[in-house]
Amino acid sequence: MKPREIKPGVYWVGAVDWDRRLFDALIPLPDGTSYNSYLIQGSEKTALIDTVDAAMPDVLLNNLKQLGVDRIDYVVTNHAEQDHSGALPAVLDRYPEAKVVCTPKCQGMLVDLMLAPEERTVTVEDRETISLGNRTLEFIHAPWVHWPETMVTYLREEKILFSCDFFGSHLATSDLFVADEGQLYEAAKRYYAEIMMPFRTIIQKNLEAVKNYAIDIIAPSHGPLHDRPEFITKAYHSWAFDDPKNIVVLPYISMHGSTRKMVEHFVGALVQRGVTVKQFDLAGTDVGKLAMALVDAATVVLGTPTVLVGPHPNVAHAVFLANALRPNIKFVSIIGSYGWGGRAVEQLSAMIPNLKVEVLEPVICKGLPKESDFKALDNLADAIAVKHKANNYV
Ligand code: FEO
Repeated sequence: MKPREIKPGVYWVGAVDWDRRLFDALIPLPDGTSYNSYLIQGSEKTALIDTVDAAMPDVLLNNLKQLGVDRIDYVVTNHAEQDHSGALPAVLDRYPEAKVVCTPKCQGMLVDLMLAPEERTVTVEDRETISLGNRTLEFIHAPWVHWPETMVTYLREEKILFSCDFFGSHLATSDLFVADEGQLYEAAKRYYAEIMMPFRTIIQKNLEAVKNYAIDIIAPSHGPLHDRPEFITKAYHSWAFDDPKNIVVLPYISMHGSTRKMVEHFVGALVQRGVTVKQFDLAGTDVGKLAMALVDAATVVLGTPTVLVGPHPNVAHAVFLANALRPNIKFVSIIGSYGWGGRAVEQLSAMIPNLKVEVLEPVICKGLPKESDFKALDNLADAIAVKHKANNYV
């Protein structure tokens, strides 16, 4: 992709990674991603906002070459993570006069992560500005979106907010701006769930921090730009502030069919009681889809057989992730089957210290479920429906 003009003298110069399918060797990228870097030419100085992943420095340098850029004064580094700072050494080599502009916390991280030369970094405080001549960059510290050093950069004259990961989406596209809001919503929600949800209360503060800025364009460092910024800010507001909904997320595994019979009965019982269910067979689940479902759910019920006296490892993996993602769920329970004994409930319960939840009475049966087990599942469905209604989760 060639450089794209956003406004006169303001360009997208990043890299689209159409074929990447995994991030952090963990997060599925069904639609690829992009690493957005932006060039801002002022009447006196030139700034680059973020770089690109360490795998694609040549793409960025070639874009700058195509624009005839022979001097960069500032490389604003909103975030130290390698998908944005990975090409920083190559940019500093190519533009020896450039200084890195970042938060004080980011400075140390760039030295550690990228071996960046400290003497070429300039730190900025919250709301500090740098003049490019006829253009002004204002730096707004926005910690924990999603690392401790993060900030966003506001280009005052053009009313563009360069938000880095905040408001981003893993979406490779040839569109510079959001063209399909339905597609963007899915990708941005997936991104929020995987990256931002653990910091939900801090996200709330950061939404407040940018609320009073006049913003025409939000330019994140992944995915297309938002020229209707209220679409993504409203979505973030709802994900970060809203109460959970009348939804049960049910991740499960079944080895010989007993847990599956319980799941099928239980899902029917919940639906009969007016509760929405999102069921995930962990033998083949995209963890990003599961994370998205956790954004809105009030309750999680885990379905597990017993493997070597504990839960199935796929269920343990999902619970480990859910605990790390800290969704706003309120109730948890466990259903499942065992052959000769086990401690699945005890072990899973010990794996969720981050979740401030009420644990509802588990239903564990020996072998195939019997009439009394189905009755216990009905009782659990009753309890969930009553709890959701009592809390006005709709
Ligand atoms: Fe896109 Fe946190 O890096």
